[in-house]
Amino acid sequence: MKPGDRIKVFAPATVANVACGYDILGFAIERPGDELVMELTTEKGVEIIDIEGDGGVLPRDPLKNSATVAILDYLNFIQADFGCKVWIKKMMPSGSGLGSSAASAVAGVYAINMLCNEKLTKYEMLPFLLNAEKAACDAAIADNVASSLFGGFILVRSYEPLDIIQIPVPDELWCAVINPDVIVLTKEAREILPKEIPLSVSLRQSANVGGLMVGLLRGDYDLIGRSLVDYIAEPHRSKLIPGFYEMKNAAIAAGALGSSISGSGPSVFALCKGKEIAERVGVAMKKVMDNQNIGAEVYVSKVNHAGPKTLPFVD
Ligand code: HSE
Repeated sequence: MKPGDRIKVFAPATVANVACGYDILGFAIERPGDELVMELTTEKGVEIIDIEGDGGVLPRDPLKNSATVAILDYLNFIQADFGCKVWIKKMMPSGSGLGSSAASAVAGVYAINMLCNEKLTKYEMLPFLLNAEKAACDAAIADNVASSLFGGFILVRSYEPLDIIQIPVPDELWCAVINPDVIVLTKEAREILPKEIPLSVSLRQSANVGGLMVGLLRGDYDLIGRSLVDYIAEPHRSKLIPGFYEMKNAAIAAGALGSSISGSGPSVFALCKGKEIAERVGVAMKKVMDNQNIGAEVYVSKVNHAGPKTLPFVD
């Protein structure tokens, strides 16, 4: 580890909530994801050299950008007498519901940790990522950051203390996600939710979380589908997403097991059995957006078990 050491990394986008698991469930997907290049410097602190692909909207101030907030926490924690410069390449918009701020923050801590010879465990880095989420959307939520950092399908069983459980998923589980060209800010999408929910809603929601967990563990695709129901966020947040129910209905009609909002939206995900159905579902959801003259990107992948990874430099 010396000044001038460089690394290029990728951290995946994520689908948080997964219908019934508001703030407690999430999984990583293959793409999109953010890339970050980091170079160690003799000066302390973190400097953002460039952010590409954000349309100029993300903060360049290292104390406000999710990636650099997490890196600064890391450097402070290890009492580093050095710093770094970073170049960030955003491959998804902020306010997409794909864990954009989380992917950048995970790329940041993964990069600095690799350059520091993996000094900290992923668990030890989680608090830095929660701070980064707090800086980005005013809420220290673990679903996106934990899914991107650990990869796979994640249950946040407890926030205090943090208890992250990786859930095995069946082999043929695929996901189609559509990201419409609409911005929904997480902070606003959280503010429109009720602060309290009736006991009856809590019962139905937690029963579905249980059902989804058992469905994933047993590879029971019908049970997975029956459990993908959200009584808490979807009824309110669907209003922020043009054509939400049309997309959801089109996904189900095309064979999806179930469908709901990805994170705080506007992206919409559908879980499917098999690649062929997932691709068909992606096309069906895209058609809905085409009919409404709304641009959209579709991503089809299995759950990404790898999480962040190092990329080669291509000069
Ligand atoms: N669970 C969060 C939400 C997603 O739905 O607001 C952002 O972490």
